[in-house]
Amino acid sequence: MSLTTLPPEGRNAAAPTQDLRTKVTMPALAGMKRQAKPITALTAYDYATSRLVDEAGIDMILVGDSLAMVVLGHDNTLAVTLEEMLHHTRAVRRAVRRALVVADMPFGSYHGSISAAVANAVRFIKEAGAEAVKIEGPRVQLVRALTEAEIPVVGHLGLTPQSVHRMGGYRVQGKTVETVAQLRADAMALADAGAGAIVLEGVPRELAALITADLEIPTIGIGAGPECDGQILVFHDILNMTFAPHAKFVRQYADVSAVIREAVEQYREDVEHHAFPTDAESYHLPAAVLEVIDSDPETVEADGAAALRRV
Ligand code: KIV
Repeated sequence: MSLTTLPPEGRNAAAPTQDLRTKVTMPALAGMKRQAKPITALTAYDYATSRLVDEAGIDMILVGDSLAMVVLGHDNTLAVTLEEMLHHTRAVRRAVRRALVVADMPFGSYHGSISAAVANAVRFIKEAGAEAVKIEGPRVQLVRALTEAEIPVVGHLGLTPQSVHRMGGYRVQGKTVETVAQLRADAMALADAGAGAIVLEGVPRELAALITADLEIPTIGIGAGPECDGQILVFHDILNMTFAPHAKFVRQYADVSAVIREAVEQYREDVEHHAFPTDAESYHLPAAVLEVIDSDPETVEADGAAALRRV
């Protein structure tokens, strides 16, 4: 950004008002919490869908590692690689103008040394155009290191899918007095370390409400009840494109599978019955060329180009 394109002083410093023209930033999300304005978030993984999601006015787009399952067909999120996540984040970046673009760091890309994790996070910002990264679990030291490296971080607590083997499956977390206290402390520690927002997944509504009240930064819930500052769902879930039974917290807003299936079947039938393409869907020779061919069909022989040059 050059100095001449800097926004007017303080535009995002105070609690900014979100509208469909104002770029969403990480500080703007905190402003929305202060104004009690619900934050809308969805996952997206490619150019076309991200563009539609952005144009529909969603505030935050997460290039989630859920793409391992809903786009790449894996059984869980563990297999997706850093390079695959970077590839999809770049596609999303090309599409999005207004929403905050957050990239999920995949399993293994931030579980070794802090310096290796920061280096991987830098790639999302520098090479793929993400504006923040999301990491799962109470990794307080890493959040501090990323914040010091000027990389905005979204935390993720509760049911963290990358811990599927440790958790023994996808189970609601924070249902005992001890785990409620632990998750509240974890959320507070992430916020103190510099996290800009925290995704709360698969936790009781009452716990999410407590954490939301504890923190100045926004909570974004998925299966965490209505008291969170914002909500996120997986794009393919709300459109019925996941080929699996939905979790209790998913609301399906359209049946895009049915729309695609019908359209593709119709196309197949049209081709099979010579109903596609029609003359109107075809290109035509110029009238002068047609005239030559009609008057002397032999002008155009097997080596058509050479013959036509002789005309
Ligand atoms: O990867 C993902 O889609 C996520 C959301 C469910 C929060 O982490």
